[in-house]
Amino acid sequence: MLQVRDLGKRYGDAVVFQGVNLDVSPGEFIAIVGESGVGKSTLLNCLAGLDVADQGSVALRGVDLGGLEEAAQARLRRQHLGFVFQAFHVLPHLDVAQNVALPLLLLGQPDAARVAQALDDVGLAGLGTRLPQQLSGGQLQRVAIARALIHRPALLLADEPTGNLDPDTADRVMGLLAAQTRAHRTACVMVTHSQAAAAHADRVLRLTRDGLHDA
Ligand SMILES: Nc1ncnc2c1ncn2[C@@H]1O[C@H](COP(=O)(O)OP(=O)(O)OP(=O)(O)O)[C@@H](O)[C@H]1O
Ligand SMILES: [Mg+2]
Repeated sequence: MLQVRDLGKRYGDAVVFQGVNLDVSPGEFIAIVGESGVGKSTLLNCLAGLDVADQGSVALRGVDLGGLEEAAQARLRRQHLGFVFQAFHVLPHLDVAQNVALPLLLLGQPDAARVAQALDDVGLAGLGTRLPQQLSGGQLQRVAIARALIHRPALLLADEPTGNLDPDTADRVMGLLAAQTRAHRTACVMVTHSQAAAAHADRVLRLTRDGLHDA
């Protein structure tokens, strides 16, 4: 479902990482750990085609990202990828339900019933008309999770999804993320510094300059 071969990224002469290989099966949940600055966010962006590697290839559902035009890449992303970031990235002027509905609108497939169900699934039933500023951090991250999964992507990419939450809230949000991805057999690649978060994964890998290794 995701195949990464010999991926490398450098800035000038400075190698960020090289020799990254990864195979993710449908429904598999992978955690990537590694020290700050080793290139975890850069790697996730390369997997999404949001950043360009200098070497190697990324194939999503058998399609080589490097061989696609920008517009085709964007279409593939919209259809098959979901993102959750550390800093939530919900749109402040849209209410909760509008934020969650956005990926479906971009695909031309609005579905109010599915949005309501998704809010219910993440424990936010009844909060659809609130603005993001009226929510707590844990609630905002649950909005972000509902939005990332609303279009049933094949792959969820999550960069420190609980990094801004207190430990108890982080635990609940992680449990929810794991349950939601399992329920829809969504594969997940998550970057985290948290051992508790990594414990939810099927496999934990460590990123070093020389690639991904079993942690
Ligand atoms: N535009 C750039 N030019 C040069 N170096 C860069 C640039 N952008 C990022 N880097 C370097 O690339 C490396 C990888 O950054 P990245 O954000 O991927 O690290 P990370 O593993 O996600 O770190 P953290 O755990 O702190 O989020 C860092 O050492 C960073 O300084
Ligand atoms: Mg990072």
